Parts: sequence; C-alpha cells; structure tokens
Amino acid sequence: MTTFAAPARAYKSMTWVAADCLAALALALPAAAADPQPPASIETIVQFNTVCSNCHEGQCSGRLSFDSGAAAAHSHVERYIGKASEVHVAALFAMLRHVKETCAHYPAVPIRPATGAWEAAELAPWRNAQAGAYFIPLGRLAAGRRQLRLEFDGAAEGGARIDDERMETVADERLCGDTTKAVAFDATATTSYFLHLKAGAAILRRITFR
Ligand code: HEC
Repeated sequence: MTTFAAPARAYKSMTWVAADCLAALALALPAAAADPQPPASIETIVQFNTVCSNCHEGQCSGRLSFDSGAAAAHSHVERYIGKASEVHVAALFAMLRHVKETCAHYPAVPIRPATGAWEAAELAPWRNAQAGAYFIPLGRLAAGRRQLRLEFDGAAEGGARIDDERMETVADERLCGDTTKAVAFDATATTSYFLHLKAGAAILRRITFR
C-alpha cells in the first residue's frame, strides 16, 4: 500500500511543478519571441542530429523541464560533446526545444535539390567525425519510388536511415562492411526528408539520386 501512496504524493507535487512551469513559460515566451535565436550553423545541426538525437529523438513532450534554461543543460551537454561555449549550448538547447514543441525536425536547408549526384566535398560539412556519423537534409523529393545510392571510400559499419519532417522513419538499412548501399522508399511531395547515416570511419564519396 505504501508503494501506491508514495507515487500518488509525487504526482500531486508534480502537478504543482507543472503549474509553476506554465506560469514561467507564459512569462518567458514574449521575451523569446522578441529575441529570436540566429539560425544554427551546419556544424551545430549535425552535432544535434548525430549526438543529442540518439537519446532525444522524437521527443514531443511539448516543453522542456530544465526550467532555468540553457545554463542548467550546460554540464549535461558537455558530457556528450566536451567543452562547449554558452552560445553553442544555447543553440543546441533551442534545437531541442524546437523538436519538443513542434514535434518536427529543426529546419535545415539541403545542399541543393536532390537530383543527380552530391559529391564528397559538398557532403563533408554534414559529417560529425567524432561520432562517425552524417546528418544530411535531403529536402523535398518528387513523389514516388526514390532511391539513394551511397558510395563510401571503404567498408562502412553502421546504418542508413531516412526520416521525414515529423521524424517518421521511411527507410532503414544496416551497413555491414558495405562500400555501396542503395536505400529506397516511397516519397510524398508534401514533406522533407533527412538522412541519418552511421558509417564509422568510412567517408561518403557520393550520393546518387534515382
Ligand atoms: C545518452 C543519452 C543522452 C544524450 C546523448 C543526450 N541527452 Fe539530454 N537528456 C538525457 C536524459 C535521460 C535527460 C533527462 C530526461 C529528459 O528530459 O529527456 C536529458 C535532458 C536534457 C535536457 C533537459 C530536457 C528538458 O526537457 O528540460 C536538455 C536541454 C538536453 N538533455 C539537451 C541535450 C543536448 C543538447 C544533447 C546533445 C549534446 C543531449 N541532451 C544529449 C539523455 C541524453
């Protein structure tokens, strides 16, 4: 019985905490709207989607619980990415907030329309070397069966996953020492797509769109 009573008390205090948070949020919102974050750099977007999203992917709780904001998240963030500036942590924090509040990817502009081929040099900025992973926005694709052919400079170990704006996975392939891999899925014209690629030490030479 005590095991039942304790959570009930905890629940009651959580309700009060939630009420406090809503009040704080109501105060914080006009200030946030008047002081928008500058658009995040590619490096930060890639870091968020190759490191933070491993645990925070698809969290749609509507709000953050670190009420004191980016400062409270600082030591948590540094555990995963090492020493980081206030500005950098604030940018990552804003991304997580965007994901939680909108239940969608933080917007990221693709290299250029996804047709033909994207080459190694233009793909390089979208790699997080530390994580052995890429995050590559593909943008909108023509509706219908689409195929991406990935070419690596060596054996790639990990996986290639594609999701849409709402973070719904549309394709998921394992990479087991592959040097090339085709990833296919049925695209709709009403959403944008994102490639999450774990390839270890392997470097992307090219992505060809079909
Ligand atoms: C190994 C898993 C893991 C990784 C990687 C990770 N986090 Fe977290 N994070 C958590 C957990 C667990 C919590 C506490 C529960 C929650 O709020 O989801 C948390 C909480 C947070 C919070 C407070 C959440 C809130 O609702 O107030 C922020 C902000 C945050 N993380 C940002 C980041 C950022 C930015 C990164 C990337 C640098 C990151 N985290 C990487 C596991 C992780």
